[in-house]
Amino acid sequence: MPASQPDKFNEVREDIDRLNVEAHSSDHFMKAVTRLLHEKMLKYNWVGFYMLESGTTPPVLVLGHYQGAMTPHTRIELHQGICGAAASTGKTVVVDDVSKDPRYLACSLETKSEIVVPIFVRGAVAGELDIDSHFPAAFGAGDRDLVEYCAQLVGKWLERDPVTPR
Ligand code: SME
Repeated sequence: MPASQPDKFNEVREDIDRLNVEAHSSDHFMKAVTRLLHEKMLKYNWVGFYMLESGTTPPVLVLGHYQGAMTPHTRIELHQGICGAAASTGKTVVVDDVSKDPRYLACSLETKSEIVVPIFVRGAVAGELDIDSHFPAAFGAGDRDLVEYCAQLVGKWLERDPVTPR
């Protein structure tokens, strides 16, 4: 029998905690998080990181590790997209219907909803975790908690082991 929603969130959180202990670098942890969320969360059809490139003016988010279809958006300025909105405000953005959000930059025609969670390093936005779903309104409170938890752990990793975007 498939796990109920709360059980599923707990199970995946435990997996994330295990990865957090076992990872040997920020890069390794970030890659493992994308794989785990993409594999275990059936509605998470694209999972990836965008990280702020250091020293670039104007600031730009650069695609990092991801799982899912190739995206044309490998570099996103902060005034562009849902990604730019989350990074520039430092707030999680959840979009239930991307076709109704004028900020949305299309990655795949199948995408219906999206969540973007900023990653903070010593109080400043350093990047974000972006997840797209082929299902409308795929991201509820439990999803938001889970993705924010992952973003917090990545922030802590980056504080002790900084990585530059690839
Ligand atoms: N949809 C994002 C762009 C990134 S792709 O989804 C991978 C946005 O609107 O910023």
